[in-house]
Amino acid sequence: MVGDDAETGDDAAIVDGEAGLDRAVAVLRDGGLVAFPTETVYGLGADAAAPDAVASIFTAKGRPPTHPLIVHLGDLEALDQWAERVPPEAHLLADAFWPGPLTMLLWRAPDVPDVVTGGRPTVGVRVPDHPVARALLTRFGGGVAAPSANRFGRVSPTTAAHVLSELRGHVDLILDGGPCEVGVESTIVDLTGAEAVVLRPGGVSTERLAEVLGREPAAATDAPRGSVGARAPGMLAAHYAPRARVEVLDEDAAAARIATLLAATDPATGHGPAVGLLAPGAIDGVATDAVVLEPVGPPPDYARLLYARLRQADRLGLDVVVCVPPPAAGIGVAVRDRLRRAAQSSVS
Ligand code: TXA
Ligand code: MG
Repeated sequence: MVGDDAETGDDAAIVDGEAGLDRAVAVLRDGGLVAFPTETVYGLGADAAAPDAVASIFTAKGRPPTHPLIVHLGDLEALDQWAERVPPEAHLLADAFWPGPLTMLLWRAPDVPDVVTGGRPTVGVRVPDHPVARALLTRFGGGVAAPSANRFGRVSPTTAAHVLSELRGHVDLILDGGPCEVGVESTIVDLTGAEAVVLRPGGVSTERLAEVLGREPAAATDAPRGSVGARAPGMLAAHYAPRARVEVLDEDAAAARIATLLAATDPATGHGPAVGLLAPGAIDGVATDAVVLEPVGPPPDYARLLYARLRQADRLGLDVVVCVPPPAAGIGVAVRDRLRRAAQSSVS
């Protein structure tokens, strides 16, 4: 797909291949914004060493400036420019999971711009595992600060087209690397305390972290979430939300809930709400009036397809989407986390 170029309007161009990479590097060097694919979701990148460039990410997203950004690196070698007092656990995790969907919070190195860390003493770093991301980072040679390439609080993009629909006019270039394979964001592990703490479940499961660390990492409590002073300030309880209201229900309760929702006709219009179902597989007894989204399958496929399905729910104009979560194991934990936040967003 080819978008309009800078010459013809304010749309970002969607580009790929060698020429696309060259243009992306030039945009980064120029202090511009490049959306790029990673294995988790698409990121909205700027030169992490250029404070003005990084600041424009917050404007583009409508994101509060206190929310720190992850610095993406091409390889582990660059880590010392961004972090210091790196504990042995970080090296264990980097060896096991980088490149990959793991972000580590470490003590920041002195030169890391405040705008990247939200003025915090820590920095989030990750080496992503996507050929286009890696080629971009290697050619650019520096760190790329990037949040997910969506408007603040909305569903993360997993295709270049999703990025365009979120950030049209707010991004200089979109690198197309196809649909993201993991589909939910990286796992964030805080390694600045006495023990590793999982701040956000994601592409690397807690089970795999425990195997490598030799013990169960702690989970962040829910208590501080939802306030800007929370330990990981971007992880508000309400996040990752489509416009449709999300309700999370177990498989055996979904059909009855859908029937109840459909029965609630608005007396003014005489119409009931448009109700959809998102589930791993087929569910018996679902009212024929409901919009059954294509089943998402086993947990890794659920993660990969989750955000595209939530976007589809919005495109179809659904008022409510009843979501049956995967089991709470492996990447299913991250999917359940995102569904829960999407549900909280829609009721608040
Ligand atoms: O998979 C991912 O992690 C994607 C891709 C693009 O790498 N990125 C992503 O970024 O999800 P973002 O900004 O949407 O979410 C990163 C989270 C935010 O909640 C942010 O507040 C938190 O990480 N974070 C980053 N640096 C931090 C720091 N120094 N201290 C506390 N939280 C931090
Ligand atoms: Mg995000």
